Amino acid sequence: MADLTTTYLGLTLKNPLIASSSPLTGQADSVARLEQAGVSAVVLKSIFEEQIRAETSEMYAALEGETSGFAMEYLRADLPARLGPEAYIEGVQEMRRRVSIPLICSVNCVQPDQWVNYARKLEEAGADALELNLYHMPVDPNETSAQVEARYLALVQAVMGVVRLPVAVKLSQHVTALMPFARSLAGAGVRGLVLFNRFLQTDVDIESETLLYAPNYSTPQVLHEQLRWTAVLRDWVRCDLAVSGGIHSGVELAKALLVGADVGYVCSALLARQDMGVIREILDGLSAWMGRKGYACLADFRGKLRETDLQDGHGFERSQYVKAATQLA
Ligand SMILES: Cc1cc2nc3c(=O)[nH]c(=O)nc-3n(C[C@H](O)[C@H](O)[C@H](O)COP(=O)(O)O)c2cc1C
Repeated sequence: MADLTTTYLGLTLKNPLIASSSPLTGQADSVARLEQAGVSAVVLKSIFEEQIRAETSEMYAALEGETSGFAMEYLRADLPARLGPEAYIEGVQEMRRRVSIPLICSVNCVQPDQWVNYARKLEEAGADALELNLYHMPVDPNETSAQVEARYLALVQAVMGVVRLPVAVKLSQHVTALMPFARSLAGAGVRGLVLFNRFLQTDVDIESETLLYAPNYSTPQVLHEQLRWTAVLRDWVRCDLAVSGGIHSGVELAKALLVGADVGYVCSALLARQDMGVIREILDGLSAWMGRKGYACLADFRGKLRETDLQDGHGFERSQYVKAATQLA
């Protein structure tokens, strides 16, 4: 029987399959079912920075008539920590009581703001780690890519200044220069990078001539970008790497580990099939492949296909492209 144990963000995990953030990880009942089905950890459904800030500004508004300057100052300083969305915190507390696998809380954020103190509340509620989901469309015509990345980095640093929890950052693949950005995040002390977030997919209904944002699940084909970047970043960032996107069977999980991922996340496979049995299938598929290859544990093969020499790597990538393009011609 293959040994699937691993570590991620300093947490010891029984296997490398984590349930990714989605509506399935927003309720204690389904998180308990995910644990039973075999995942080694869950990333909770994201709470949005706007949700946290909305409550804060409501309180500011309510305090407008407050005459005691001292009380006002005290409340202002302490506000986000005291008034974050209680339901989310209570959800984390309930999950903590009901499951023993690690809970990774997720905050969808774009601005360093007072809400970062809310992260401390998540820590107190029983979170084992924090994932910052940098889900943001950079549509400001005056903001350059360097400014966007500097803003993200400042945000991450602000959060890391207030929590003791290990922090992971979930990245979009649409970053101009992912390598230096990933390295500056790791340099700032981020313990893990999640490659990648999947934006809500835009579609068009040609009859009503309106935009659609229907739930759009991945297929194993989307895995290629994740594989490429995991292989390239592996030796160049001193932090863990998680592949998120396209893991539907043991085959994709084995590929992610071969290029150097520490763990794989699963989301669409669970939502599309509405069957948590898929978790056991993925893990059994990985174990069966390891058995066939004679691998006893993940360390026997993890990172075997990572890009170790980046100078060569550049040439390799380019020469493969040239080869493919000229064969087609
Ligand atoms: C319906 C749905 C809801 C999601 N909600 C979140 C979320 O709240 N926070 C987050 O970081 N990612 C969210 N995601 C993205 C997933 O966690 C995951 O990164 C992405 O779907 C790629 O993995 P997959 O190919 O296994 O689906 C969501 C995805 C779907 C399909």
